[in-house]
Amino acid sequence: MFKKLSLSALAALALTAGAASAAGDEAHIHDVDFSFEGPFGKFDENQLQRGLKVYTEVCAACHGLRYVPIRTLADEGGPHMPEDEVRAYAGQFEVYDNELDDYRTATPNDHFPQSALDNAPDLSLMAKARAGFHGPYGTGINQFVKGIGGAEYIVAILTSYTGETRDQAGTTFYENTAFPGGWISMPPPLADEQVDFDDGHSNELHHEAEDVAAFLMWTAEPKMMARKHTGFVAVAFLILLSSLLYLTNKRLWKPVKAKAKAGA
Ligand code: HEC
Repeated sequence: MFKKLSLSALAALALTAGAASAAGDEAHIHDVDFSFEGPFGKFDENQLQRGLKVYTEVCAACHGLRYVPIRTLADEGGPHMPEDEVRAYAGQFEVYDNELDDYRTATPNDHFPQSALDNAPDLSLMAKARAGFHGPYGTGINQFVKGIGGAEYIVAILTSYTGETRDQAGTTFYENTAFPGGWISMPPPLADEQVDFDDGHSNELHHEAEDVAAFLMWTAEPKMMARKHTGFVAVAFLILLSSLLYLTNKRLWKPVKAKAKAGA
């Protein structure tokens, strides 16, 4: 009986494993070792600054980041840019001011502009909205060590165009093996050597894609470092508290136990 049970359990496991990896193959999303993954992961300032450059020079033509205040570009744990650079960065945008009832130059206290193109979604939270990699097989282990997968999804979208296009009802669709359904209406936005990095980092397509994906992970979860740090302190505190409780308990019961031993 037991043998039969364990056999069918094994068979079921094998089936789910097969199904999960089949789904993975279809999406063509590969793991990337981002610096911010894992319990002690940190955003890489230089990578975030490069990602901001890719975003500004390429993605911002269509997309927006309307939930992200520009001043957070100076935050430690984020891109950590000098205040004057952040002010200069803000200065390139015009925002509509309700009080003035007119447009004015943006300041660091304003948010990034909204999407310029109606059908291009806002990217502020995209890296979390497209989280994946819940496995292996639903245990959440991957999320813990490999991150939530949204950044990998963005890299995959930017690097999985096949070059095929088709027109449908006046819209051009581009074949993309990472996009659910396989056809996306975003034209391939990035190419090799499209953006020059000031730090001399390689600007092959997949590097540019990883940098902008890391930047978008930061916009979606700017306080990730603080959260990990708090989690770490909380666990250390719990370990300390448990050991103290254990020792206190031992000491409290010591005389009682000694008496019980003497009595026996
Ligand atoms: C020419 C305009 C344009 C540019 C430039 C552009 N996008 Fe897009 N993007 C779109 C449109 C339109 C969609 C909606 C596609 C759809 O749903 O078929 C989209 C969708 C997306 C999506 C969402 C895919 C999903 O799962 O729904 C992501 C992520 C994305 N773009 C990232 C980027 C990044 C990163 C850049 C810069 C490297 C960029 N885009 C540049 C127009 C653009």
